[in-house]
Amino acid sequence: MGGSIASYPTGPRGNGSGNGSGALQSDGRQVIPDQPQPPSTPLLELRGVRASYGRIEVLHGVDLAVPAGSVVALLGPNGAGKTTTLSVCSGMMPPTAGGVYIAGRRVNGAKPDQLARAGVCTIPEGRGIFPNLTVRENLQMMTYAGVSLSHIEEAAFTRFPRLTDRRTQVAGTMSGGEQQMLAMARVLATDPALMLLDELSMGLAPLVVEELYGIVAQIASSGISILVVEQFARTVLGVADVAAIMLHGRVVKVGHPKALEKDLSAAYLGADGI
Ligand SMILES: Nc1ncnc2c1ncn2[C@@H]1O[C@H](COP(=O)(O)OP(=O)(O)OP(=O)(O)O)[C@@H](O)[C@H]1O
Ligand SMILES: [Mg+2]
Repeated sequence: MGGSIASYPTGPRGNGSGNGSGALQSDGRQVIPDQPQPPSTPLLELRGVRASYGRIEVLHGVDLAVPAGSVVALLGPNGAGKTTTLSVCSGMMPPTAGGVYIAGRRVNGAKPDQLARAGVCTIPEGRGIFPNLTVRENLQMMTYAGVSLSHIEEAAFTRFPRLTDRRTQVAGTMSGGEQQMLAMARVLATDPALMLLDELSMGLAPLVVEELYGIVAQIASSGISILVVEQFARTVLGVADVAAIMLHGRVVKVGHPKALEKDLSAAYLGADGI
């Protein structure tokens, strides 16, 4: 199958299988790691990351780690900098300071396609599908990575049986939940090591959100690390291994999802002293 980050240590859920070698150097070239990373090396780590839109800095030193094989939920109110953080992780936005590390290697300045080849995939807010194409055509586009359509379809329909009957349906006419499933099926076709999800629950009914997070948990149990951003959804707390609260461009608290529930309410009520 397609790209992957590096031979990295087994996480709390995954067995790490299916992820071969090929990390990125700071100049973006793929390298075969010469030795395994120590078990504590996170799959993704941000250290003191700053980022700006023009001259306006919106990330003021973000520290965040996604251990291999785990689900990390990045939560915070509107405008906190969650999407910007994902943009930095996916190479869409260069950090102005600090470091982005993948499997221990600094990847500052790597382009989105280089990171994608290294196993970082993104589902942006708004789903990342082509609404005017059919389900099959959406999947067919992912054959660029060298995997056959029949293989991609088999994997997609096994994981998302609901999509099976919708093969020839125009994707934009499906329900929001089904569109998210298609978005996930598309990126899973690239055999990712790290999935970045922005507002998975946006505009969806609570039951659908629950179903989708059940799928996220299954994906994580197959060894894929997940960083998921949400503004409100508490459902993610039941699935995440670690939760982080972001306020005003900084991660202000990291901990067990259960332990952070109280702090979350404070964050949304505008109490910054958490
Ligand atoms: N393209 C842009 N140009 C200028 N400023 C931007 C741009 N995108 C975001 N910002 C600003 O950067 C800050 C962080 O925005 P970001 O979208 O990362 O927040 P967020 O936590 O994802 O919010 P939301 O929950 O509303 O999605 C905000 O003040 C926002 O206004
Ligand atoms: Mg956002």
